[in-house]
Amino acid sequence: MTGSMQPVEIIATAAFGVEASVKWELSRLGYEAKATSPGRLSFNADPAAIVRSNLHLRAADRVLVVAGRFRAKDFDDLFAGVAAIDWRRWAPVGARVTPRVGIVRSPMRSPRSAQSVAKRAIVESLVGKGNTLDETGPEVVVDVSVLGEDVTVSLDSSGAGLHKRGYRQRAQAGQLKETLAAALVMICRWRRDQPLIDPFCGSGTIPIEAALLASNRAPGIGRAFAAEHWPWIGDSVWEQERCRASELVDDSGGAPIIASDINPQAVGLARQCAENAGVAHLVRFDLGDYRELETELANGWVITNPPYGVRVGEEKEANRIQKDLPAVLSRLPSFSHGLLLGGSDFEPIIGKSATRKRKLYNARIQCTLYQFAPSPDDSPAFSASANGHAMDQFRAALTKRARHFRKWPNQHGIHAFRAFDGDVLGLRISIDRLGESLRVEDKGDPGKTYSADKLNILREISGIASEVMGISPESVQRVHRSASSQRASDQIELVERGVYYEVRPAEMSGAGLELSLRELRAWVARRAKDARVLDLCARPGHASECTAAVASNMTAYCPDDLAQARLRRNLKINQAANTEVGVGDAVDVIDQIDDERFDLIVCVLGSDEASRVTPAFADLLQSCAEVLSPGGTALLAVPAGIAFDEGSMGEIGFPVKELTKSLTPDDFKNAMPWCIWACRGSLD
Ligand SMILES: C[S@@+](CC[C@H](N)C(=O)[O-])C[C@H]1O[C@@H](n2cnc3c(N)ncnc32)[C@H](O)[C@@H]1O
Repeated sequence: MTGSMQPVEIIATAAFGVEASVKWELSRLGYEAKATSPGRLSFNADPAAIVRSNLHLRAADRVLVVAGRFRAKDFDDLFAGVAAIDWRRWAPVGARVTPRVGIVRSPMRSPRSAQSVAKRAIVESLVGKGNTLDETGPEVVVDVSVLGEDVTVSLDSSGAGLHKRGYRQRAQAGQLKETLAAALVMICRWRRDQPLIDPFCGSGTIPIEAALLASNRAPGIGRAFAAEHWPWIGDSVWEQERCRASELVDDSGGAPIIASDINPQAVGLARQCAENAGVAHLVRFDLGDYRELETELANGWVITNPPYGVRVGEEKEANRIQKDLPAVLSRLPSFSHGLLLGGSDFEPIIGKSATRKRKLYNARIQCTLYQFAPSPDDSPAFSASANGHAMDQFRAALTKRARHFRKWPNQHGIHAFRAFDGDVLGLRISIDRLGESLRVEDKGDPGKTYSADKLNILREISGIASEVMGISPESVQRVHRSASSQRASDQIELVERGVYYEVRPAEMSGAGLELSLRELRAWVARRAKDARVLDLCARPGHASECTAAVASNMTAYCPDDLAQARLRRNLKINQAANTEVGVGDAVDVIDQIDDERFDLIVCVLGSDEASRVTPAFADLLQSCAEVLSPGGTALLAVPAGIAFDEGSMGEIGFPVKELTKSLTPDDFKNAMPWCIWACRGSLD
C-alpha cells in the first residue's frame, strides 16, 4: 500500500456505441481519454480522478484502475504476468480477491481456467506459494482483460455497475439501463434550455437522466463504490469530492422536461424514481396515449424508446405505434426527435432519412437511435397538400353555415347551436357552439385507440373552426369516442330560454345540453306550466330542467345514477325544488302507475333505452296516454335510426300526432336526429 497520490491509469468502460459520450464526459471532467479497445477509454490521472469519475460519469459502465499490462500466449505467461504485479500496493489487507476474466481472440480459451490461474498468481504474490490468504475484508474485483496476446489487469473501483444509481428499486418491463438513457440524451446533444418530451417514459429513465444532467447532479452521489474501501485513496478524498459534487447542483433555468405513458403504474413508478433521484420537481409526469401528444413548447427534443414488441403478442401493437409515430411527430415541427427503436428498418416507415443513426444495445437487443432534425416545412406522414382540397371544401361549407347562423342565434336568444354536421375526410364531424366554447367531435365508431392521422385531421378541422367561428383555440374542445380519450373537462354554465345548464364541452359522452332537443324543450315547457309532470327518462340537458322550471310539481326517473346526480345539480342551479328525482326504467315506471294522473308525460329515450323498448314504442305511448289527466299530453322521442313499425303508432286508441319535423331545430334539419310523437289522453 503506497498511500501516495501518484498518477494511475484509469479505464472507463462503456457499452458498444456510447464510447464517444463517455469520452466527452471525461473531457468535461478535465481528463483526455483515448480508446484503447472497443468499450474502453483510458487516461492517466491522480487517484482523485477515480472518485470523480465514479461520481460523475453518466454513460460509463465501470471505472477500472490498471494494475499491470503484459503479453501472454498461454496460462504460464498469464500466471507470471499477474504474479509480477505488486499486489501489496493495490489490494487492501484482508481483501477477498475475485478475478473477472474477459477473453477475446486468445489461444487461452477458457475464462474459468484463466480465472483460477489469475487467482492463484495473486495469492502467491501476496502470501507466497502454499499459504492461505486472509480474505475476511471487503471484495476486490480484479478485471483481467485478454485481447489477443495483450493482457490488462485492473481493479474494479465501482463495485456495482454505474447504472445502479440507487433511484430505481422496482423493475418495469422494457426499462432502459440508466447509463444508456443518459447516453441517449447526450448523443442527441440535448441542452437544458430545450424542452424534452418522452411520451413512452415507462419508469422514467430518460427524463430522470435528463433532469440529472440538466441540474448537474452527479448520478453516483447517493450510492456506494468498491473503492471507498481502498485505503490508498482515503476517506477525505471521497468526502471532498461528494461535497464538491453537491455544490455543483444547479436547478435554475431549465426548460420543461415532460414524461408521459399510457400505463398508470409506469407513471407512478416514474414519479417515485424521480423523487428518489431528487429531480421530481424538474419533471412533469402525465398519463396519456402518445397519439394525443401535443405541446405549446417549441424547439425541443422528443427522446424516447417506444415498445419494441420483442415479447409475444406485443409485436402488432409495436408496429402500429411505429406506423403512427410520423403523424404524431409531425405535430411538433420545431422539435428534433431521438427515437430508440428495435432493428434498423424504421426509415422506410417514417418515409425520410434520419439525420443521424447510431447502433446501440439495450440489454442484448440491437437497436438503432434515429435522430431527426426539425422539419417545419416537411411533415413526414401528414401532408397538408394531400388533404388540402377536402379542407378547403370544409372551410367553405363552414363559412357558409357561419354566415347563415350569424344573426339567427341572437334573434332567438340562443347561445348554443350546431354549426356543422357532415363527413370530412372520413370523419363524422359535428361542431357545436356552446356559449364561448366550441365542441368539435368525431362521432365515428368508438374504438380502442384513435389513430394519430385521424387526430391530426381533427386538429386541423378544429383550427379552421376556431378561425371561422371566431373562437380562441384554447376554447375549442376536440372530442372523439375512443377509449384513449378519457380526459377531465372544464365545465361552463349555459342559459337557454331562461333555464341554466351545467355543460362540459369536452366530455366524451355528451356535453350535457342536447342541442337537437331545443324545440322539444320549448314545446314541453309550454305545456308544463302549472302542470303535474312525469319525466320517464330524465337526462341532464334533455327536457327536465325547463319543465321543472314551470311545472307545479314533477317526478323524474333517470336511467342511471350519473344522470341523476347531474340532473339534481341542474335543478339546484335553477332552484327547482318541486321535483322528485329517482332512478328507474321507463317501462317499469309506467306499468306501476295505478291511480295517479299527470297533465304531461315526457319520455325522451336515449339509444340504450330505446333499443331495450323497440319495437314496442306504440305500447309505451299508449301506456302513457292511459295515465294522463283530462286534457293531458304525452310526448315520446326516440333516436332516429332505431327500427320499429311506424304504422303501429296509428293503431293505438288515442289521438297521436307525429311532431318530428316541427320539433327539429333549424340547425338539425339536415339530420333529423329524433322521431317524435305526441298523444292526447283517454278522458280528453
Ligand atoms: C420500452 S418501454 C419504455 C421504457 C422506458 N424508457 C424506461 O426506461 O422505463 C415502452 C413504454 O411505452 C408505453 N406505451 C405503450 N403504448 C403506449 C401508448 N400508446 N402511448 C403511450 N405509452 C405507451 C408502455 O407502457 C411502456 O412503458
